[in-house]
Amino acid sequence: MFEEFILVEQSLKLSGEVNLSGAKNAALVIMSSILLTEGKSILKNIPFSQDVFNMAKLLEGLGAEIKFDFENKEVEIDTSKVAKFKANPEIMKKMRASILVMGPLLARFGRAEIAMPGGCVLGLRPINFHLTNFKKMGVVFIQENDFLTATVEKLISRRIILEYPSVGATENIMMAAVLAEGKTTIINAALEPEVLDLISILKKMGAKINILAPATIEIEGVNFLNPVKHEIMCDRLEAGSIILAAAVTGGQVYIPNGDASVLDVFLLKLEEMGHTIKAEKDGKGIHFVATESPKAVSFKTAQYPCFPTDLQAPMMVAQCLAEGVSEIEETVFENRLLHVKELQKMGAKIEVEGTKAIITGVKELQGTKVNASDIRASCALVLAGLAAKGSTTITGVHHFKRGYDELDQKLESLGAKIVINDNEIIRKSSNNKQVEL
Ligand code: UD1
Repeated sequence: MFEEFILVEQSLKLSGEVNLSGAKNAALVIMSSILLTEGKSILKNIPFSQDVFNMAKLLEGLGAEIKFDFENKEVEIDTSKVAKFKANPEIMKKMRASILVMGPLLARFGRAEIAMPGGCVLGLRPINFHLTNFKKMGVVFIQENDFLTATVEKLISRRIILEYPSVGATENIMMAAVLAEGKTTIINAALEPEVLDLISILKKMGAKINILAPATIEIEGVNFLNPVKHEIMCDRLEAGSIILAAAVTGGQVYIPNGDASVLDVFLLKLEEMGHTIKAEKDGKGIHFVATESPKAVSFKTAQYPCFPTDLQAPMMVAQCLAEGVSEIEETVFENRLLHVKELQKMGAKIEVEGTKAIITGVKELQGTKVNASDIRASCALVLAGLAAKGSTTITGVHHFKRGYDELDQKLESLGAKIVINDNEIIRKSSNNKQVEL
């Protein structure tokens, strides 16, 4: 059988200007939140990645009508005819974010039927915080094999304490609570920028939500919510990836719609490496210039505003090529160092001790055949390919397509040579020369 792959050629210094797409992680939950309303809503700045198309299919399976406007990067979601509550198990297995339809379905219809969700292989990734707290809100679950049926007559608003600030659990519980009578308080809530974008659209719909210190979200339930128009925030993780592509090739990039204020710790670490970063007014508009001699820096991932776990793998590539020894600790997911083995094949010097990677910088990486095991690993391997001698062939292409909206083409516009051969499309490099496959 034909195996899809991405072919990346060693790149000269990437340089130029590039705009970001909408944030995939915000888009997925926001699309799901539209189930809370009855009627037509419009989402602008929608990223066209496979996970977004999968979420659209999931909503269609429930009875929603979806129209994408590819030219204007918009999607119209009409929820007037939603009358089914069973989420497509095939899609649920592909994408963990499918669990996010549960809160809105319970809030609007009192019923949701879901298969246990899948997604990237990042460890156990249980959904216990979602389920335990829905139970506390009065939801009854019946499990049959891998299928869960959740029902509730009337959601009970209450004080919910998360032992860990899970992004998905915070979003799901909040989407249930906006239509529950009375006040729900989520203590130790996740406050990632994507969660704030969800709060912003829920408020436009008519929800009553306040953020209180420390890390608390207070929701006063309302009787109904209205359809809305909303522009999805730009993808901070895509911004980080593009900046790192410039960093590992010694180049420079300007991102007019990038927001430095949602990347603080990440940018701080790049500055410590010796790179130069300047933001325009209010943090919007990011200018990045790579240093010729990057220094190794250590960091650990944690919930926002700490270093984002989704940029750990791409940042590791920069450490592989920096001078000195760095230590990276992954604290969010217990199995998020699978890219290490692939980077080692490319000549990286990395030792793993539990959830820590200890990296000794090398002068150069070598292109070879590697496999991407999750969305962010796929991006890391593309970046490694840009810096590595010769060509790099990356399998596991579906992960790249799940997470990014034409990131390959954005990098090509900065001078990279990347070909995605996915049996449907053979993309050409920007200089219009067909790359030999
Ligand atoms: C979201 C993001 C993902 C990002 C992650 C952390 C989306 C679609 N995905 O994933 O890109 O890497 O936040 O910023 O927005 N956990 C439990 N029980 C639960 C839920 C989570 O133990 O019920 C654990 C997870 O296994 C993980 C940690 O909590 O170790 C963080 O997970 P969570 O914040 O929920 O991540 P997601 O919402 O799945």
